[in-house]
Amino acid sequence: MLLLYVIIVLFFTHTFYYLIMAHKQLNIGLFGFGVVGEGLYKVLNQTESLKAKIVKVCIKHSNKKRNAPSSLFTTEKDELLYDENINVIVEVIDNADEAFEIVSTALRNGKAVVSASKKMIAEHLPEILQLQQESGLPFLYEASACASIPVIRNLEEYYDNDLLHSIKAIVNGSTNFILTKMFEEKLSFNDALLLAQQLGFAESNPKLDVEGFDAVNKWAILINHAYGIVEHPSNLLFNGIQNIQLGDALVAKEKNFEVKLVAQAQKLKDGKVAAFVLPQFVKHDDHLAFVKNEYNGVVIESGFADKQFFYGKGAGSFPTASAVLSDVAALRYDYKYEYKKLYHHTPHELSNDYFVKVYVSFEEWKHIPKDDFEWIEEWHAGEERKYLMGCIHVKELLGKIWWKANNTSLILAPEPIVEDIDILRLKKRSLELAGIE
Ligand SMILES: NC(=O)c1ccc[n+]([C@@H]2O[C@H](COP(=O)([O-])OP(=O)(O)OC[C@H]3O[C@@H](n4cnc5c(N)ncnc54)[C@H](OP(=O)(O)O)[C@@H]3O)[C@@H](O)[C@H]2O)c1
Repeated sequence: MLLLYVIIVLFFTHTFYYLIMAHKQLNIGLFGFGVVGEGLYKVLNQTESLKAKIVKVCIKHSNKKRNAPSSLFTTEKDELLYDENINVIVEVIDNADEAFEIVSTALRNGKAVVSASKKMIAEHLPEILQLQQESGLPFLYEASACASIPVIRNLEEYYDNDLLHSIKAIVNGSTNFILTKMFEEKLSFNDALLLAQQLGFAESNPKLDVEGFDAVNKWAILINHAYGIVEHPSNLLFNGIQNIQLGDALVAKEKNFEVKLVAQAQKLKDGKVAAFVLPQFVKHDDHLAFVKNEYNGVVIESGFADKQFFYGKGAGSFPTASAVLSDVAALRYDYKYEYKKLYHHTPHELSNDYFVKVYVSFEEWKHIPKDDFEWIEEWHAGEERKYLMGCIHVKELLGKIWWKANNTSLILAPEPIVEDIDILRLKKRSLELAGIE
């Protein structure tokens, strides 16, 4: 009888708690009113049922014209961070250091936080994890990786540790847009970049997109939710699309491939994880080959379900704002990331002990350390550029710059990871046999 009473009391207090949370008024202090911030303002105005209201907006330049009442705006961050009426801070500014300060102060001041700043999150992951543990408050950032695709929450909630074999993705809408325009519409690199900027797909600083920094920041965030790996993005093997040549596109076409900037993480036989972001040849029937323009795509391969493909807009005002909005909505029931792979399982370790199959195009042989290759199976010398296809250990790439310097372009082969050393040794051919001198 007593037990039944306890169960009934628990049921009603729990239900009551969730009813209260579901009706909680969310008073938002918004930092940033650029592409994402203004997008959020507009989508919130069309989502009345959410019971969420932007109370104040902090921006940097007070003299800019805004499409919202001037009484909303301030340049004083403390007006938001110390306002007791504000219970949610949404941070969508374009300065990672200032963003970290805003987010840390907000959490310390007892406010739930939603952010889209991948650079800030990736570079400060250990501190952010600690702040969340100390404050016990939600800090959500779905928009920071693949914008409109709910990949973080899926990795957190759906894919258990043992089930996740690999994850392969196009995570940067801007570079994917540039590659699509260059290879399909024959636009020059600069014209394609300008168009991406005009359409709001590119970061304020284009170097972040083009040289792979934005993609590797997102990858550092996603491999945490996928495998529990906490690694500074600068320790991951990565590059962007800055050295890709028209000639590379021609070789790709000949071989029936597309060129994409691909982020990949894969469990190796020893249980460790290989993770990198590099240009890659993608077969025409690969899911990622269907991802064009500013779209992003994620292919998750799991133990028994085989492959699943997520596809959606990876940048732009409304798609990004919709992910921010979804996080704001999740605050009504106090949703928090549990970081299950990190805290509830043994986290995976990052591996740098595997080989990759690569295509390298270059101007002169003297720029290529031929002896570092395990084998070279094909090479071609044209008048202006030469290229080779071979296999190399990742240690010969990590921390070295030959493959990014002197206009050299390195693109991974499809299915690039080679880890079976015995097979590798059997196949090994000397450079002399390949006829290179
Ligand atoms: N654009 C996208 O498609 C996209 C997609 C996913 C994630 N994100 C991320 O979302 C964030 C915002 O991107 P965005 O494209 O919206 O940038 P944006 O258009 O350049 O806007 C940046 C905004 O931040 C404001 N700002 C800068 N420093 C500030 C400070 N210290 N205090 C208050 N406000 C400050 C600026 O103020 P003023 O207006 O006064 O200059 C501006 O309103 C970035 O972290 C970005 O990586 C963007």
